[in-house]
Amino acid sequence: MNLEIVVLAAGKGTRMRSAKPKVLHRLAGKPLLQHVLDSSAELDPINITIVYGFGGDQVQREISADRLTWIEQREQKGTGHAVGQALSTVQDDTKILILYGDVPLTSTETLKGLLDKVTTDRSIAVLTCDLDDPAGYGRMVRNGDGNVVGIVEQKDATEAQKQIAEINTGIMVIPSVVLKKWIPELSSENAQGEYYLTDIIEMAAQQQIDIHTHQPASVYEIEGINSRSQLAKLERVHQLELCEKHMDQGVTFIDPARVDIRGDLITGTDITVDINVVFEGKVVLGDNVEIGPNCVIKDAVIGDNTQIHANSVIDQAKVSTDCSVGPFARLRPQAELAAGARVGNFVEVKKSYIGKGSKVNHLSYIGDATLGDRVNVGAGTITCNYDGKNKFNTIMEDDVFIGSNSALVAPVSIAKGSTVAAGSTITKDVPNSSLGIARAKQRNIEDWKKP
Ligand code: UD1
Ligand code: CA
Repeated sequence: MNLEIVVLAAGKGTRMRSAKPKVLHRLAGKPLLQHVLDSSAELDPINITIVYGFGGDQVQREISADRLTWIEQREQKGTGHAVGQALSTVQDDTKILILYGDVPLTSTETLKGLLDKVTTDRSIAVLTCDLDDPAGYGRMVRNGDGNVVGIVEQKDATEAQKQIAEINTGIMVIPSVVLKKWIPELSSENAQGEYYLTDIIEMAAQQQIDIHTHQPASVYEIEGINSRSQLAKLERVHQLELCEKHMDQGVTFIDPARVDIRGDLITGTDITVDINVVFEGKVVLGDNVEIGPNCVIKDAVIGDNTQIHANSVIDQAKVSTDCSVGPFARLRPQAELAAGARVGNFVEVKKSYIGKGSKVNHLSYIGDATLGDRVNVGAGTITCNYDGKNKFNTIMEDDVFIGSNSALVAPVSIAKGSTVAAGSTITKDVPNSSLGIARAKQRNIEDWKKP
């Protein structure tokens, strides 16, 4: 049977107290619903239908996946009603995996285990979990033989049923023929006046359809988000899990509780990451990389043996091997450091190439520049790349030395081996092996009386 997925995401999320739809709140930098869709994609379904409610336009703008169908549920009349809205989009001979848009961390392995239990259109599989505190959840009701015969909601449960520890996570696999047959039969005569999807289980069991169950490896896989507090807790659980994975691969986190990975982090071995580091987007770290405390690193590649010192911010930049960056450095988009380059404190680099072994160690702005190898840029050097309208390039060829506090007014180039005297404002190209000096002459007034 082909697989189709229906994601229920129409719930309002009142407890988030937010103008933003709940499923767009972010876990590890990614909307909750996107987590669900990314794990769904790994199951290779022929179609994914999202049942949305509140804030539909915004959800459709921020979420992406292949083979998506959007269905609006105007009024939230229960999970059975929500699935009912999606039935027009599903084929007759498929199995339907029902997921919740606010349960972000169900693993693909768990879902595969569940899907494997449904091999014919006369079987259903429910993801269940034994909880120490099952309060609030629907309970799995089993007969004397241990077979599931129904699910009872907390609000409809007898005292005895409330003692059942095995809960319905809400995630199930139901053949589409079964859904199409029984969804129209659901009634809302229950404690909440809702159409319960869970009532299908009792109906199906009475028709000798096999009800299988499967359990996840960890409880957090089935946890839904209803409040910001739950979101924060799940974030820490997830971050720790991500750190564990990297620790297993040879990364030392000085404190895994104080690191955030929001995106794809690809790591070599013998990496050390100090506290309060945030990784965003796609970040690749080579072997023996050291990252100091309080760094933010986004969409960047950092080569082997490179040190990123405390409080540096790196965004869409490429740093080669054996480099040193920071403390307090800022590498902006399209900054590229070749092997052995050094960028020190209070230096900002934007859209510039810094050649092998070159140094920009203190208090500089390097923008739209190309530096050759072994260039030394003195403290306080500024590339004046912008005239208020257009941006221009600065070139410093191999072995150039720029004296401190120089302004290089672009477009300008300093040829191989040349020196710029400290305090110069350079507006004309400097030919190779020359000294460019452009500063007011000093005069000393002798016997000067202080006012
Ligand atoms: C449901 C289950 C319960 C299970 C619990 C797990 C039913 C009747 N009950 O409880 O057995 O233990 O989930 O969390 O199915 N939704 C819609 N439209 C609606 C109603 C809900 O899209 O009209 C979505 C919500 O956005 C949410 C999911 O369905 O993602 C579950 O809804 P929620 O109200 O959280 O679950 P319960 O009905 O309380
Ligand atoms: Ca409800």
